Amino acid sequence: AVVTAEKSWVRIVTGQTPTNIAVIKYWGKRDENLILPINDSISVTLDPNHLCTTTTVAVSPAFDKDRMWLNGKEISLAGDRFQNCLREIRKRATDVEEEEKGIKIAKKDWENLHVHIASYNNFPTAAGLASSAAGLACLVFSLARLMNVKEDQGQLSAIARQGSGSACRSLYGGFVKWIMGKSEDGSDSFAVQVTDEKHWDDLVILIAVVSSQQKETSSTSGMRESVETSLLLKHRAQEIVPKRILQMEEAIKNKDFPSFARLTCADSNQFHATCLDTTPPIFYMNDTSHKIISIVEKWNRAETTPQVAYTFDAGPNAVLIARDRKAATQLLQRMLYYFPPGADADLNSFVVGDKSILQDAGIKEMKDVESLPLPPEYNSTQKYAGAVSYFICTRPGQGPIVLSDETQALLNPETGLPK
Ligand code: ADE
Repeated sequence: AVVTAEKSWVRIVTGQTPTNIAVIKYWGKRDENLILPINDSISVTLDPNHLCTTTTVAVSPAFDKDRMWLNGKEISLAGDRFQNCLREIRKRATDVEEEEKGIKIAKKDWENLHVHIASYNNFPTAAGLASSAAGLACLVFSLARLMNVKEDQGQLSAIARQGSGSACRSLYGGFVKWIMGKSEDGSDSFAVQVTDEKHWDDLVILIAVVSSQQKETSSTSGMRESVETSLLLKHRAQEIVPKRILQMEEAIKNKDFPSFARLTCADSNQFHATCLDTTPPIFYMNDTSHKIISIVEKWNRAETTPQVAYTFDAGPNAVLIARDRKAATQLLQRMLYYFPPGADADLNSFVVGDKSILQDAGIKEMKDVESLPLPPEYNSTQKYAGAVSYFICTRPGQGPIVLSDETQALLNPETGLPK
C-alpha cells in the first residue's frame, strides 16, 4: 500500500479525571440502558493527585478500527457502555485544525475515522474504588477534547452517565449533585457542581482499603435486584432522599460538619439496609467495616461534636471524612491502633496518598504504630492486624484537566500505539 504524507498524522489528547464517592447514594435505575436513576445523589470528588484515571485518546487515518488498552492490556470496546459513549461523542464532533502538525479534520470526516484509547488508573482497578466512574468520565472528557465537541460540562456528564452512572459526577471537582431528571430520553439527568473544591478545604479523607477474598455482587445486578424486590428502596427513593438532598446541599454550603456527618452516615447505613432488604439479601460490608463504624460512632459520641463521617459503597472499604486535619490525625492514630498492618508490611506502602498525615500523627516507623496508646473512649484492647490492606489519605479535589505535556501521554504521538 502507498502511505501518503497526508495519511501519516496522529492527533492526540490526554485527560486526567478524578474518582468520586457518594455521600447521598445512587442505588437503583429506572432505565437500564440510558442509566437513569431513581433518586438524586451527591458526591465529593477525590483529589486526582491521589486517585485518578489518565486517558490518552488518538485519531489517525492510519487506524483501521477503534481500540482500547486499560492499564497496559488491550481490552474489548464491544460493550454497550463504551459504544454508547463513543457514539454520543462522535455525533457531536466538529471541525479540528492543528496547524503545527498540519492536521485538518472536517466534521463529516469523523464518522470514518477510528480512535485509539489508552487508560491508566493510578490505584488498583479492582479494589472497589470507583474506577469505572473515573474511567468513563475520563474517556468522555478526553474524546470530547479530541473531537472538538462544543457541549458544556453538564452535557458531557449526561454522556458519561451512559457509560457508568456515577461517572457523570466525576466531570466536576468539589461537591457534585447528579439530578435524576424526569424525561424518558434522559436529557435532564446530568451532574451539576454544588460547590468547588476550594469551598470546604478543611476536610480530610481517609480511605481504609479492607481486605476481602469474597467477590461482591456487581453494582449493576445488585441495584437491579434491589429495585425488583426492596420496598425499603422505594420508600427511600421517594420519601427520604429528596429531603436529604436539600439538607445535604445546605450542610455543604454552610460547611456544617455535624449535619454533613449525620446525613452522610445515615445515608450510607440506609443504602446498606436496602441491600439487606433485597431478596436474596446482599452484603457489601464485612466484620471489618462494621468494626470501623463502631469505632467512629463511639469516638464521635465521646466528643462534643462529630469528628468523622463514614460512608461505604458496594464493597467493604471505608471512606472516612474528617472535619479537619486535627481530627484526621486522631483518626489515623485510632485506625492504626486497631488495624495495624499484617506480617511483613512496610509503613510506606501501608499509608499512601498524602503521607504528611503520618508525621502529624507522630509516626515515623513501625514501632511507633505498635506503641500507639489505647484510644480513651474505648475499653477493648483487641486489635485486628491485617484486616485493612492499606490506607489512602486524600482530600476533596478538582475536576478533569487536559495534560498538555506530551511526555505524560500513554500513546506514542507518532504511532498512536501504547508507549
Ligand atoms: N474501568 C475501570 N477503569 C477504567 C478506565 N480507566 N477506563 C475505562 N473503564 C474502566
